[in-house]
Amino acid sequence: MKKIIVSAPGKLMLFGEHAVVYGHPCLVTAVNQRMYVRVEILDEEQFQLDAKDVKIKNYKKYLSQLGKGEIPDAAKFVEVAVKNFYEKFRLRNGIKVTTYSEFSFQIGFGSSSAITVCIIKALAELFNIKLSNKEFFDFSYRVVLDIQGKGSGFDIAAAIYGGTLYFQSGGKIIHPLAIHSLPLIVGYSGIKADTVSLINRVRDKFAKNNKRFQEVCAEIEIIVRRSRQEIERANWKIVGELMNRNQKLLSELGISTSKLDDMIAAAISHGAYGAKISGAGGGDCMIALASEDNIKSVERAITRAGGRIIPVETNAKGVKYEK
Ligand code: PMV
Repeated sequence: MKKIIVSAPGKLMLFGEHAVVYGHPCLVTAVNQRMYVRVEILDEEQFQLDAKDVKIKNYKKYLSQLGKGEIPDAAKFVEVAVKNFYEKFRLRNGIKVTTYSEFSFQIGFGSSSAITVCIIKALAELFNIKLSNKEFFDFSYRVVLDIQGKGSGFDIAAAIYGGTLYFQSGGKIIHPLAIHSLPLIVGYSGIKADTVSLINRVRDKFAKNNKRFQEVCAEIEIIVRRSRQEIERANWKIVGELMNRNQKLLSELGISTSKLDDMIAAAISHGAYGAKISGAGGGDCMIALASEDNIKSVERAITRAGGRIIPVETNAKGVKYEK
């Protein structure tokens, strides 16, 4: 029985969230917490899924039923990825998919995109189908759009390419930054955020003030471009200041929470160069940047403000075969 295991990294948005949905660039880094997918070919024409991290066990369907009927949320990305891939390449073999994760789907590290990327990579390898990186991106991004209708695809790019990327919506630009790592502190707020509702919240808030929204996005773009240079120069003090400027604009977009604000303020008052939300906001994680000497006191301050420190290494490797 032929089988394969593939892994892909989670991600953290560094700069440019929300504006990236409207065509502006962002910076994203891949983190060393990975998602794993095992795919094996079956004799029967069935799709089977085991994803015990998200309480899916013995989920089964005939291939002809893929994408039809009630699909549990936790199975959607895998099932739609398989369905799209099977339709495009006219495949008929049954498969069993098993997923497991080094991180909780709740913290906002992008488990759905990492899983989508793993599945596409595994299927391409199993069925000997060559995909360029761009085709691979487009295919995976399509799955995300089919399910949630919105999103820039920055998380898909991070899962495929790894490293730290300068990214423009829909993968128009995907440029790796020339760096080794980024000394980030990550604090989880304990609240699960829903990306699409937060995108909609921003849209509604500015429905009658598009001019200001355009200005905010333009300011975010300037910050993203400058941060790209300063990150490559490892000028962490300036990168921290840029984080603070980006955070002010995110607050204006209305996606911060009092818990995130407290964690960010605590980090800064204990010596962080800067701190901000990472991602859609409304919960999930904040990130801070601090000198080596201050890391411990910043971490303690974030914890006292109610956050949980999640140790990560940035600039992690993109999708890869494990076996
Ligand atoms: O919710 P997250 O952490 O996946 O971040 C979303 C970032 C947005 O810019 C709001 C959406 C997107 O797809 O770029």
